[in-house]
Amino acid sequence: MRKKIVAGNWKMNKTYEQGLQLASEVVNMVQDEVPSDVVVVLNPPFVHLTSIRKLIPASATNLFLGAQNCHYQASGAYTGEVSAEILKSIPVDYTIIGHSERREYFQETNAQLAKKVDLLLANQITPLFCCGESLDIRESGTEIAFVCNQLTESLFHLSAEDFAKVVIAYEPIWAIGTGRTATSQQAQAMHAALRAHLATHYGQTLADDTSILYGGSCNPGNAPELFACPDVDGGLIGGASLKSRDFTDICKSF
Ligand code: PGA
Repeated sequence: MRKKIVAGNWKMNKTYEQGLQLASEVVNMVQDEVPSDVVVVLNPPFVHLTSIRKLIPASATNLFLGAQNCHYQASGAYTGEVSAEILKSIPVDYTIIGHSERREYFQETNAQLAKKVDLLLANQITPLFCCGESLDIRESGTEIAFVCNQLTESLFHLSAEDFAKVVIAYEPIWAIGTGRTATSQQAQAMHAALRAHLATHYGQTLADDTSILYGGSCNPGNAPELFACPDVDGGLIGGASLKSRDFTDICKSF
């Protein structure tokens, strides 16, 4: 069944102490206030993962830990990188891959992301696969074809059984960190198109069961309208995930 998911992408923010403080606030607020059917994922910087893992009580069945990236090779001489196997040893539950900032600043390709998906799944970690178009592409009217192709090239090699473990996050690049969110109509139109594309390859049932999150300037003010869209199953939250009150309010926006 399709899950409601809110994932906080802290990006390169919060020192170690600040991160532990934020995580403990979120853990407490989520346990007190967020319905248990909403899956909440914290994605701090790598160095915070081990300590934040210990802050998440085993009894909190809807709180999960995620990383923001992993390498596309299994192991070896890749100085400064972190593998899916290392993440599993923490353990992390989710890992964001293909964020537009990684695609833009680190030239990540759809083919590399296909390898990352495989490694994460082999290590029992849920890939949180990001896709989305630039403003140029949207203005040219080709955004649906562009984003569908990102899914095709990075995910469609998966068996149905493996694909069922993937979560998708649609993040229009022009809405990330800009304060300019997609309208609920724009988000719904893209999410419905992505679900239809998934159905052509994996069938309607699996497409209907896939969680597709929206990301890009999502905040407590606009989350209720976005999450009310029939094909929007939650959010990937950047800036607003750095404040425990805002993030928790977003988690309560279904
Ligand atoms: P934003 O970032 O919420 O700050 O726009 C979202 C993201 O990049 O995941």
